[in-house]
Amino acid sequence: MKIVVIGGSGLIGSKVVNDLRTRGHDVIAASPASGVNTITGEGLADALRGAQVVVDVANSPSFEDKAVLEFFETSGRNLFAAEIAAGVTHHVALSVVGTERLAESGYFRGKIAQEKLIRASGVPYTIIQSTQFFEFVGGIVQSGTEGDTVRLPTAYIQPISSDDIALAVADYALGKPLNGVVEVAGPERIRLPELVEHFLSATHDPRKVVADPHARYFGAELYDDTLVPGANPRLGSVTFDTWFRRSQAAR
Ligand SMILES: NC(=O)c1ccc[n+]([C@@H]2O[C@H](COP(=O)([O-])OP(=O)(O)OC[C@H]3O[C@@H](n4cnc5c(N)ncnc54)[C@H](OP(=O)(O)O)[C@@H]3O)[C@@H](O)[C@H]2O)c1
Repeated sequence: MKIVVIGGSGLIGSKVVNDLRTRGHDVIAASPASGVNTITGEGLADALRGAQVVVDVANSPSFEDKAVLEFFETSGRNLFAAEIAAGVTHHVALSVVGTERLAESGYFRGKIAQEKLIRASGVPYTIIQSTQFFEFVGGIVQSGTEGDTVRLPTAYIQPISSDDIALAVADYALGKPLNGVVEVAGPERIRLPELVEHFLSATHDPRKVVADPHARYFGAELYDDTLVPGANPRLGSVTFDTWFRRSQAAR
């Protein structure tokens, strides 16, 4: 199959591209760095010519509220116009578990808009909602940092390794469109402050965690289960400790 991976140079995209190529498919890693831009439309029609599947794992370069919304809306519109013209028969997109519960957050309003465009596009689709990547825990720490403390909500999190999520994305890209949402999560559920304490201790970071049920997560207040999947998610196998050991060894 010819498969175009939009955001094919990113953390998840580069792994999805490798995985699908290893399985023998004709894969285009599409991103501005390789001359394919979903915002300007540059290179899009050429990249999609003859493609059956498009995997969208692009992300907004800016996380500022208005910029994120504009990114996902413009990118989605341009992408679906090009997909319809090229006769693409499966659109696979990576979203976040709980997106529909996080409308207080500017970033998630962008993801809600992305999912809405997918459902309205008329192109058969699969939306993969993933929990947070282990690689993103550092970003969560930064977002909650106030001086030498990190203030975090007490909600549960069930983070996943980028290898596990990339494998899931590749599997769904080769399957039939589900015209719905699947959830993918890591093997362990833990309260956010506990995970971050573990992360800070592993990285010898002296910042102290303050658990506050009302602290915001990227602008949104969380319930215990806002960030975790419902019944029957696909589960990755890599735990935080295994991921951390591997990522230190790879340095
Ligand atoms: N972080 C998390 O914990 C988490 C959890 C669940 C789901 N997700 C979702 O996972 C997806 C991928 O995240 P990631 O961390 O792998 O992203 P990433 O490493 O930041 O990569 C972003 C990719 O988007 C591309 N891109 C940016 N602007 C583009 C444009 N105008 N046209 C085409 N491509 C463009 C970039 O290309 P260049 O390299 O050429 O700039 C890059 O390949 C996102 O949609 C995110 O919402 C993230």
